[in-house]
Amino acid sequence: MSNGSNAQWQARKQAAIARGQGNMAPVYIDRAKNAEMWDVEGNRYIDFGTGIAVCSTGHTNSKVTAAVQDQLQRFSHTCVMVTPYDSAVELAEKLNELAPGPTAKKTIFVTTGAEAVENCVKIARAHTGRRGVIAFNGGFHGRTMLAMGLTGKITPYKNLFGPFPGEIYHAPYPIEYHGVSVEESLKAIDTMFRVDIAPTDVAAIIVEPVQGEGGFYPAPDEFMQALRKLCDEHGIVLIADEIQTGFARTGKFFCSDYAGIEPDLMTVAKGMAGGFPLAAVVGKADIMDAPLPGGLGGTYGGSPIGCAAALAVIDVIAEENLVERATQIGDLFASRLSELQDSYPDVIGEIRATRGAMIAMELVKNGDADQPDPDLTKALVTLAYQRGLVLLSCGIRGNVIRFLPALTISDELIDEGLNIVEACFRELILI
Ligand SMILES: Cc1ncc(COP(=O)(O)O)c(C=O)c1O
Repeated sequence: MSNGSNAQWQARKQAAIARGQGNMAPVYIDRAKNAEMWDVEGNRYIDFGTGIAVCSTGHTNSKVTAAVQDQLQRFSHTCVMVTPYDSAVELAEKLNELAPGPTAKKTIFVTTGAEAVENCVKIARAHTGRRGVIAFNGGFHGRTMLAMGLTGKITPYKNLFGPFPGEIYHAPYPIEYHGVSVEESLKAIDTMFRVDIAPTDVAAIIVEPVQGEGGFYPAPDEFMQALRKLCDEHGIVLIADEIQTGFARTGKFFCSDYAGIEPDLMTVAKGMAGGFPLAAVVGKADIMDAPLPGGLGGTYGGSPIGCAAALAVIDVIAEENLVERATQIGDLFASRLSELQDSYPDVIGEIRATRGAMIAMELVKNGDADQPDPDLTKALVTLAYQRGLVLLSCGIRGNVIRFLPALTISDELIDEGLNIVEACFRELILI
């Protein structure tokens, strides 16, 4: 076990790591297995966050670990762009097969989600010869300059960092709970085409099938279908950002499958490689081939360690039926959380649990969607880790608790974790 207490490590962290890279809990993990973690003081935690939707096949999954160890014995890096290797090709073939829709696909590998997003825009611009990109209010696409520009949430992502890259336009994202209809959202894009940018100048529309950091709002199927139609009509590249929603998380292998649409380009990362840094763009082959050789990629993109891990993750998802399991997990959370909502109707404004194991609970005052309660949300996250449960928050108003457990978590651990959530509620709301 590591030397030092959580408090000692937090003090050293604050002195050594800039505050911009903040941490949600002053808890220093020593080891983790499946859906449980233990800190440097020996305290146990149930993990409802999976390192932000990454360890979907559980911490230190034995198959993933064995695949990585085996790869490490062979070699750890040669660079796909110098002397490639079998695992990158095999993984690209699998991703091309798994991506929604019948059109032939190709893949490129990068290292982080933000990089995948940036590369989508580069590919869309190379393919269309156009400049504009439309993104959505509340969307999150990463922290690099272009990805941050696309992000539709100021705090904490955009404060102090302008000026932002040009030719980015934001439209409202449809959220029924907050009174934004699909029609309104589409109308805003139509207005944008008349006021800000002609559709013939738009290279791409980028959308999360479920907004992640923005608050776990699923895009209605008819909205995704309307975007598909709009893009077809105007020759615009439709980018589905599946970085948080991909790899079985939502009860489909990719969330775009709910709407039955085929995105032109899709980003993947997070749950793909079980905790090893790997991201990719998968898209229609003719669009993917628009950039010239050498125009895409990077030194570490498609690391052999990440590719070996991802191939094992894909096997585990199939062998353990994790796509179906995600839906079961969503149902378990839905029934327990709606009981909690019955007890606290003024506080729990909405439970969102229709997209597998991507579950949210929005906290408000007086049962009013327009009175968010970020303080209670923060207090709940803090009390939960003190009681042995790692919870994450999100939302442009900072008032959403998001549940992202491993898809390999047991029913018993879900119950135990939700018992902690209930107990925290009782302690924080003395009614
Ligand atoms: C939808 C979405 N896009 C992009 C990103 C950025 O990914 P990364 O943090 O790996 O750069 C994230 C990360 O949370 C995400 O959820």
